Amino acid sequence: MSDIYPVNPEFAAHARIDRAAYERDYRASVDDPDAFWGRAAQRLDWFRAPTRVRDVSFALEDFRIRWFDDGELNASVNCLDRHLATRGDRTALIWEADSPETAPRHVSYRELHERVCRLGNALRALGVEKGDRVTIYLPMIVEAAVAMLACARIGAVHSVVFGGFAPNSIADRVSDCASKLIITADEGLRGGRKVPLKANVDAALKLPGTSTVETVLVVRHTGAAVDMQMPRDRWYDAVVDPQPAECEAERMNAEDPLFILYTSGSTGKPKGVLHTTGGYLLYASYTHEAVFDLREDDVYWCTADVGWVTGHSYIVYGPLANGATSLMFEGVPNYPDYSRFWQVIDRHKVTIFYTAPTAIRALMREGEGPVKATSRASLRLLGSVGEPINPEAWRWYFDVVGDSRCPIVDTWWQTETGGILISPLPGAIDLKPGSATLPFFGVQPALVDAAGQLLEGATEGNLVILDSWPGQMRTVYGDHQRFIDTYFKAYPGMYFTGDGCRRDADGYYWITGRVDDVINVSGHRIGTAEVESALVSHPKVAEAAVVGFPHDIKGQGIYAYVTLVAGEAESDELLKELVAHVRREIGPIASPDFLQWAPGLPKTRSGKIMRRILRKIAENAPDQLGDTSTLADPSVVDSLVRHRHGA
Ligand code: WT7
Repeated sequence: MSDIYPVNPEFAAHARIDRAAYERDYRASVDDPDAFWGRAAQRLDWFRAPTRVRDVSFALEDFRIRWFDDGELNASVNCLDRHLATRGDRTALIWEADSPETAPRHVSYRELHERVCRLGNALRALGVEKGDRVTIYLPMIVEAAVAMLACARIGAVHSVVFGGFAPNSIADRVSDCASKLIITADEGLRGGRKVPLKANVDAALKLPGTSTVETVLVVRHTGAAVDMQMPRDRWYDAVVDPQPAECEAERMNAEDPLFILYTSGSTGKPKGVLHTTGGYLLYASYTHEAVFDLREDDVYWCTADVGWVTGHSYIVYGPLANGATSLMFEGVPNYPDYSRFWQVIDRHKVTIFYTAPTAIRALMREGEGPVKATSRASLRLLGSVGEPINPEAWRWYFDVVGDSRCPIVDTWWQTETGGILISPLPGAIDLKPGSATLPFFGVQPALVDAAGQLLEGATEGNLVILDSWPGQMRTVYGDHQRFIDTYFKAYPGMYFTGDGCRRDADGYYWITGRVDDVINVSGHRIGTAEVESALVSHPKVAEAAVVGFPHDIKGQGIYAYVTLVAGEAESDELLKELVAHVRREIGPIASPDFLQWAPGLPKTRSGKIMRRILRKIAENAPDQLGDTSTLADPSVVDSLVRHRHGA
């Protein structure tokens, strides 16, 4: 049914891991995880090497996930100090600006170490102590990586908030973890447009729950004039530049928190996914090396933003722990034109390129011209992440971008997993367009039916993972019970991913998408509940229901049904106002693509909104509505179908 792209023999000849090695090591990793991961842990530098490998139980009555828990290390030492003797002059980060006219910057490991040390000292001088939380709200500039590593150096827990989030979302995240300090910039730049980062922080800090913030460090980036509220606000360079260039690194236990990253779930506010130091760093670096078949001379580029987990694991921690050269791009794929990605590849001789299906689909729509105008001869490996890649986009990526020469690693993972769980190893595993293929070492995926029965062979079901891996999240910050309830209650003894999945006769995994109330918009997770609560916070809205629908470029789009309070009139003006309201409340990524007035919503007699029906209407599949007889008022469905957006 599907075609197979066998391992490229030329690629395999130089690859780190071939098929036999994959099979042998995978076996070893699940037969004796203690021995396997104990050996793997030697890739990190430890102040005190761990003697214990894992202490794990997914059982509800005796729940624990601990890895290397008598080991001590520091993540920034692993990403910086240990490279200085052998590769201090090697480029750690290449910074490519939003505009091609702005000169790129190369930051060596030595320089990065120095900058991280100065900021680490500055943070300590400002009273930040081990265990304190620091919020980072920065554009894609070198200081973002410096800030993360400086926190890691002094044992502060960073929480990076994506620069596209609005003041409300910043405030929620700051207050949930009681941040003491925020690092931001005057403005960001994306596609020639300015993002008022400092002004957003100012607005966020006027909101309740944010009074824990004592200091805001402001990086001068665009040079725009911003309000500085003294003594709270301090210019980054004024505070950081005078600091000493050496900063003693905190000895961290492997299970000490490294960072919190907020992600949307099916209910309530975003969860603070907490990752710890040893297991996370080990897993990020190991997967980065193996999945991307990392070589000494690679120039590696992941186009994600550091505001998402992909940026954490595969721009900063994985590549830098491996001593690699990692490119940070401030801009967007279509500015100043649709050749931008490929021009950057040629400019810096990028060898490994890792991006998202939504970007590929958007670029594919522009045709081959902008790609073929560039050489891309340096490329040897391509990667995809964030959502299922449709086979058509996969083939275009392979044939047009990679000139049919470069394997594609379709990497499935989640904020919660810390690193890649299912992906081809490019020298080992035959590719099938649209499949993330086989599990990484130590990862035991399985499919279950709704009742939690394990399903064997070629079949489809809910994707679970049967045992822990070092990069697994450890808790939801401040709410351990929510962690257990969200991931380990549905199927006792297993980690539930929230994804549906098919397994074919070769044992390959094909992720089919979320099975919960999470929408994947351009590879970003949006909780339907968050968009609904933003809509309902508008005084004219009585009720709202939000669902995903298939979208050509974004993968999924956001479709909102809105019921107004009695007496309010539906109008195009109000519709625009409500979309703008959601942007203001959450951020542009949560803007509904369509908004439909709903005089009534389909509800069961007990008052539960039947989203299944709303999804079918949004998909324009009114013939698949299924049984509507259990609804309190079946007639609302006909009315919604008749007035569907675009009907
Ligand atoms: C969800 C996780 C992984 C970092 C970026 C997103 C979807 C992710 C793939 C893929 C099919 C994928 C899943 C997953 N997803 N990668 N290669 N194929 N689906 O992290 O925001 O935590 O979202 O993204 O649905 O559950 P995230």
